[in-house]
Amino acid sequence: MSTSTAPASAADDRTPVLSGRGLRKHFGRVVGLAGVDIDLYPGEVLAIIGDNGAGKSTLVKVLTGALVPDAGEIRLDGRKVEFRRPQDARDAGIETVYQTLAVAPALDVASNLYLAREERRPGVLGSVLRMLDKKGMRERAGQSVRELGIQTIQDMGVAVESLSGGQRQAVAVARAGAFGSKVAVLDEPTAALGVKETGMVLRMIEQLRERGIAVILISHSMPDVWAVADRIHISRLGGCAGVITPQSHSMTDGVAIMTGAASVESSGHEREG
Ligand SMILES: Nc1ncnc2c1ncn2[C@@H]1O[C@H](COP(=O)(O)OP(=O)(O)OP(=O)(O)O)[C@@H](O)[C@H]1O
Ligand SMILES: [Mg+2]
Repeated sequence: MSTSTAPASAADDRTPVLSGRGLRKHFGRVVGLAGVDIDLYPGEVLAIIGDNGAGKSTLVKVLTGALVPDAGEIRLDGRKVEFRRPQDARDAGIETVYQTLAVAPALDVASNLYLAREERRPGVLGSVLRMLDKKGMRERAGQSVRELGIQTIQDMGVAVESLSGGQRQAVAVARAGAFGSKVAVLDEPTAALGVKETGMVLRMIEQLRERGIAVILISHSMPDVWAVADRIHISRLGGCAGVITPQSHSMTDGVAIMTGAASVESSGHEREG
């Protein structure tokens, strides 16, 4: 199907596909973000870990237009951008699955994949009568779902509310892969899932990476993060406590840095090669 792109660990001389500098967001007196830098390189899975309230969701909301930062700068492919709403980021190729899952339960799988991107029938039927190309969307939905290796959803016409939690998450992740997006942002996509469903979503994340889509994955599951991430950004108290890799630091090190019990320098085992 797709050929694997180069792994993206020591990526610092390349232009990030998405980056933030000095991102700040206050909610009244509560500090959501205290001036955070973040870089996402092409073809990598960047995990964001951190305690509850560390600022992970706020960071991705600011990067994806769901919140406007009080200060700081966002660049997409090196160019400065200002997203005022999620649709701005989506139009620029950033597809986001927010923590509170964004699917419409009563709609079918195909309609969910094409939510806010409905395709019209060709010719007059579409341009004048505004008729939706339901058959086409259903066919293409089936194709993107199959491409991502989800075998368990067979009928794209079935309502999403009748799917399992994992299948729903899979639909949300498939959305991210369906439109030639550059970046997919997933805020805790496996939080409510069982082992098998989690495995399915993790495989989809790897599929997205293989297709050249850079992925930001927020997760509280250290095994998930250590299984799929190329680099790990550690959020702490509205800031960033450091960036590590699954090779440089263990899960225990990651948790210690997250909680302030250790620093990036005081832990880990920078292996050669
Ligand atoms: N809309 C809001 N209004 C007020 N405070 C907010 C708002 N959104 C976030 N915060 C605060 O900002 C801080 C960071 O919250 P955020 O949701 O980014 O944390 P998180 O790292 O995603 O946590 P979790 O792991 O629980 O999802 C918290 O103190 C939170 O209470
Ligand atoms: Mg959150």
